[in-house]
Amino acid sequence: MNTSTILPPTAPAVQEKFLQGMARKAQSSAGNNSPSDSGSDDDTTSYEGKSTSDYSGGASCCSSDAEAASDDELASSGEVSMTAFEAEEKMVSLFLPPQHAEFASAEASALTETLNEIEEEFMSNAKVAAPNTAEAELIAFYHGTEMDEEPAEVEAYLRDTITPMVEHSVHCCAPTMIGHMTTSLPYYMRPLAKLLTTLHANNVKVETGKASTFVEKQALAMLHRELFHLDEQFYAVESKKANVALGVVTSGGTIANNTALWIARNRCLPADGDAFRGCDKQGLVAGLLHYGYRGACVIGSEVMHYSMKKSADVLGIGTEGLRTCPFGADYRVDVGAMREQLILCREQKIAVLAVVGVAGGTETGSIDDLRAIADLAQEFDVHFHVDAAWGGPVMFSEQHKHMIAGMERADTVTLDGHKQLYTPMGCGICFLRDPKHISAVEKTANYIIRKDSYDMGKFTMEGSRPAVSLFLHANLKIMGVKGYGALVDRSIRMVRYMVSALRATGKFETVLDPMTNILLYRYLPEEGGLREAALAGHVLSAEQNAAIDTANISLQNAQKRAGKTFVSRTTIFSPVQKVRLVGLRVVIANPLTTESDIDNTLADQLAIADSMFCTKSS
Ligand SMILES: Cc1ncc(COP(=O)(O)O)c(C=O)c1O
Repeated sequence: MNTSTILPPTAPAVQEKFLQGMARKAQSSAGNNSPSDSGSDDDTTSYEGKSTSDYSGGASCCSSDAEAASDDELASSGEVSMTAFEAEEKMVSLFLPPQHAEFASAEASALTETLNEIEEEFMSNAKVAAPNTAEAELIAFYHGTEMDEEPAEVEAYLRDTITPMVEHSVHCCAPTMIGHMTTSLPYYMRPLAKLLTTLHANNVKVETGKASTFVEKQALAMLHRELFHLDEQFYAVESKKANVALGVVTSGGTIANNTALWIARNRCLPADGDAFRGCDKQGLVAGLLHYGYRGACVIGSEVMHYSMKKSADVLGIGTEGLRTCPFGADYRVDVGAMREQLILCREQKIAVLAVVGVAGGTETGSIDDLRAIADLAQEFDVHFHVDAAWGGPVMFSEQHKHMIAGMERADTVTLDGHKQLYTPMGCGICFLRDPKHISAVEKTANYIIRKDSYDMGKFTMEGSRPAVSLFLHANLKIMGVKGYGALVDRSIRMVRYMVSALRATGKFETVLDPMTNILLYRYLPEEGGLREAALAGHVLSAEQNAAIDTANISLQNAQKRAGKTFVSRTTIFSPVQKVRLVGLRVVIANPLTTESDIDNTLADQLAIADSMFCTKSS
């Protein structure tokens, strides 16, 4: 394979600009800051003409000339090879803040300029992806597995890695990228992300995330209030406490779900005096034996996210410990079946760690009857968790929040910042209705996360953790309840528009009538009377459904390859056709997606389908 085929055409131009910028900046730096007026006594410690100055002592304070001389022997072949001293000098220069390193500053400015251009070009590109890049090509392109011995130049990295990577990245913010849960982000997120990197805060503890810990606690309290609507007094007291948590910030919905079930497991098998010191100390098996159980499980819908399987595995109940219940025609869980499971568990002496309600199924957007599940949890005295990673923000919509009623009765709720709360990737939250329940998983350590500190690391599964809650806080403050509500209304309206648009073509059928902003549908090939039969509302044979599946898989792959527009696909049980079938999946939450983007996506898809399946009616 010729790996050069994926090298972007823009690479040389970008590199040239970068080098021009570098030369400009270096010239002006040299003119304005000669060694004699730099104020430094340390100008002899330079590498390739770059003064590294003596900020924080620089490299010279920890390297003697003698060491440098002996390190010279490490220089290998006749090629340009750095001494250990030079390598150290160069490494230190990489870390200098701009105001203390004129040449580094010139490089950084040139780099920023070039990255800004790359970013702008990426964002103004209407395509979803570069066409026809095979994954095999990418794996071949990024093939080297040996680290370079010598440090490299930043511009070389930019040219060789960043530029082709961007060129072949999926444009997750594109308005016609309507297949996954990624969206565009508010404009202020990009500069805020840069600031976060500059702060390099670590919210595991106040000693490294001082103000940002309290920004996080405020964001958690604001969202907790929107979720659970507890009274003024509760928030006045609980939001200020150090030894409880209204919620914990995680890297995403997976860890938020895992945290919720971790709390649920430990609460289900609590300490019992000296006889049992608690599940957190003695483990699941000892807890089950102590309480006379024969096993443990979690009960929820068949549409529960696969992260529940990961949690079940990690928490010691195994994936078979997930007792999944069927759904009805609307993909909402059959609450009657949940009740039967609860009764069965009681009879079988199986501990039910939690019942789970889904608020926004990943493939279906469906929201379970959370009120009914809350009633069940109360009746059977079981922890109630709601996975609202996707659908939680429906609570902000005056028009649609009735669908999510009952969520406020959950013991724990998962929300994802990086989904419909519009933060950059890496932000999930597990909320606790009763903040004291966090004690079920609390851990402390002497050097950090001390008992009475405000350190959030006492409660989080993760240790070191970026202060991404700043993104959440910014959106909560800047968008407000009304802003989020407007976006939820808009997304649901767009999906409904898409339903009518695809029905108007007479070539597609919906697989589910969307409850929120996720839609499943399929293309109906004309061949063999498939389209006619399906549109007439017939239940098709297994062979007919399989033929439609094959067509939809090919169609989705071809559309993805072409790169202009994108919808995803899944396989799901159809309550209408009574078989598992392939559905094209649309997720619309990008505020920049308009009706015409939807029309364009459908037109693109139809043009591909017509060319593939040779329909006459196109
Ligand atoms: C309902 C639901 N729960 C949990 C998750 C897991 O979230 P993450 O990918 O942020 O870990 C997802 C992700 O799509 C989801 O849709």
